[in-house]
Amino acid sequence: MNLTMVGTGYVGLVSGTCFAEFGINVTCVDKDTGKIESLNKGQIPIFEPGLEDLVEKQVKAGRLRFTTDIADSIKEADAVFIAVGTPPRESDGHADLKYVHAAAKEIAELAEGYTVVVTKSTVPVGTAREVEKIVAQYKKPDSVIDVCSNPEFLREGAAVNDFMHPDRVVIGTDSMRAVEVLKEVYRPLYLNETPMVITTAETSEIIKYAANAFLATKITFINEIANLCEASGANVQHVAKAIGLDGRIGSKFLHAGPGYGGSCFPKDTLALTQTGKSLSVPQTIVEAVVEANKNRQVQMAERVITACGGSVKGMKIGVLGVAFKPNTDDVRDAPALVVIPTLQQAGAEVFAHDPAAQEAAEKHLKNVNWVKDPYDVSKEADALVIITEWNEYRALDMSQIADQMKVRRLVDMRNIYKPQDMRGLGFHYVSIGRPEVSPKGSAKLKQVS
Ligand code: UDX
Repeated sequence: MNLTMVGTGYVGLVSGTCFAEFGINVTCVDKDTGKIESLNKGQIPIFEPGLEDLVEKQVKAGRLRFTTDIADSIKEADAVFIAVGTPPRESDGHADLKYVHAAAKEIAELAEGYTVVVTKSTVPVGTAREVEKIVAQYKKPDSVIDVCSNPEFLREGAAVNDFMHPDRVVIGTDSMRAVEVLKEVYRPLYLNETPMVITTAETSEIIKYAANAFLATKITFINEIANLCEASGANVQHVAKAIGLDGRIGSKFLHAGPGYGGSCFPKDTLALTQTGKSLSVPQTIVEAVVEANKNRQVQMAERVITACGGSVKGMKIGVLGVAFKPNTDDVRDAPALVVIPTLQQAGAEVFAHDPAAQEAAEKHLKNVNWVKDPYDVSKEADALVIITEWNEYRALDMSQIADQMKVRRLVDMRNIYKPQDMRGLGFHYVSIGRPEVSPKGSAKLKQVS
């Protein structure tokens, strides 16, 4: 089979490479010349464990190539995937579909014979129908094009594995012929008995938003329960464990933290609320989630200030982790982008470390002192703040850190350390949804979990 992937962003690059791994000839197209030049030199523009090796393997095998010229491969393609960006519109936060529409037009003008055009980008309900209209308007008279929605559920940092072992594949179209083509594309997964949900395009589009909005809601819910735990002396980790053991609730996505970030949840929850408004069916739960998550990131900075006695003026604060989650260099909507500037505005000097996201963060953050060694952020610091739960932060020598800090204050926004251990090391330790602890003998001593 031959397949064209239009757009080599996160989803396009990972999906295209994994389709090549399935044995399909894949051409990845992008208008960004620099990106394509880098990819042709074997340089991967994103930090994604396992991807670089897989790209190299598939390029060597002759199944994966990169080009800026969309005309190169469309004629031979059995299916053309649209995986271009759908950024939120500045005016109202709704997904901007101009790149999807432009790609649909270009594909239609070039396609010959029978082609399935697949929307892989996360797009609001109704988009596949719009794409259908565009291709009908611009296609060659003797070509036949079916349109299909096929959302992608992969996570950054685990993208290759998620693509290769998805919980389900969703295919939305009215055309059985298109379904057969996509079943062939996903044959290795089909043979592995991955559930396939075959439905209409509208349903498929809503599935993607409903899944992301539900997960974002789950996180926001446990974050609010964490606040309740803090106010009452309870422990959110025990609450999450116990409720997660109920099979109807499930244990995943119940880690309380500084609020969700990333390229999908913030954008998709906002887009869903916009769709609800435009169809006169307000999505009030998701609206509340969007609002609560926005406030949470600000509250996280306030939490650090409170832990520092109400003012951080003139203080040196060390920050571990600026990526929105571990194993990525992505800082889109990362809590660190709100926490760090708020601390700076309140008069703190910030020292920060991240194993992969420093470069991306530097575009958004000013006057941060970046260090290469995580231990260096805590030297002479008045407080240490953990914002991202990178594995390398889980096994730090905390007694060394305690020794080199000016004041032993630790705000752990990912609950990666145990309160009693931190108290033993003399820290005033603040975490999420668990009782705050202070060193033995301190007036601030509170109940230990
Ligand atoms: C998400 C979806 O999981 C994926 O299916 C979709 O295709 C894209 O959006 P991603 O944004 O890569 O993937 O990351 P994910 O691991 O889902 O985490 C999103 C955010 O939620 C992160 O900021 C993370 O720290 C936060 N999170 C996640 C929590 O705060 N608690 C949790 O229990 C889980």
